[in-house]
Amino acid sequence: DETVLKGAIGQRCFYFDEIESTNGFILKHAEELDSGDICVAEYQSAGRGRRGRTWVSPYGCHLYFSMYWQFPQGMAQAMGLSLVVACSIVKVLKQLNVDEIGVKWPNDIYLAGKKLAGVLIEMSGQTDNECNLVIGVGLNMAMSEQHGKSIDQAWSDLTSLKSMPNKTELLTLLQKQLQQDLSLFQESGLTPFQSRWEEADLFIDQQIKLLIGTDEVHGICRGIDKQGAVLLETDDGVKSFIGGEISLRKA
Ligand code: BTN
Repeated sequence: DETVLKGAIGQRCFYFDEIESTNGFILKHAEELDSGDICVAEYQSAGRGRRGRTWVSPYGCHLYFSMYWQFPQGMAQAMGLSLVVACSIVKVLKQLNVDEIGVKWPNDIYLAGKKLAGVLIEMSGQTDNECNLVIGVGLNMAMSEQHGKSIDQAWSDLTSLKSMPNKTELLTLLQKQLQQDLSLFQESGLTPFQSRWEEADLFIDQQIKLLIGTDEVHGICRGIDKQGAVLLETDDGVKSFIGGEISLRKA
């Protein structure tokens, strides 16, 4: 149908056998790209994770891709973006009958309590009225024992599923879902995603702690606000916390 074709035509996919980082590619070529264009690779020699970590990216095992997106109204319009991306990934995985999927604020995807996928958003350019971003997604499909050992947190992959989704199919579904969700987000903000997030939130109504630099704040997780800040109920009432330097942990 026409809407499907519109989504399929007009967005480009740059495919690489090997690359340093798909995020790096998009950042480098941002000026020639349009919203929705993606870069995907079988192997990353210098895959990047959040907080300056490395994203282990062995050949052929997993999905590594990045999407370019321009927010015409600047940075304020992109607040909460990482939560939207997490919601898109959850929706696609649920369509593929992956159960026990959950999210940890702001954008980690968990399968059966272990990390399945991560999102790294980087800025390629910003003016007063425009904010250009690259959204990188790494999703573990079939981890080898050797690579699994080098990851310093509990991870999961898709090998426990009855049938392993095909990588191209997974990428196509994610690309379409992201385009749809990012367009909606650009128009209407985070409100349409609030219930999707809360349904998948692994920590809602649970005791958590937020690590803020060397500080810790304890309380009960009460979901997110309209900016995508995490809401924490403490003895002083409900407060919102936002920022790249905050980590959430089970208390
Ligand atoms: C995290 O630390 O949780 C985020 C990991 C993001 C990894 C992906 S893989 C594709 C894209 N290219 C990169 O270099 N990093 C992201």
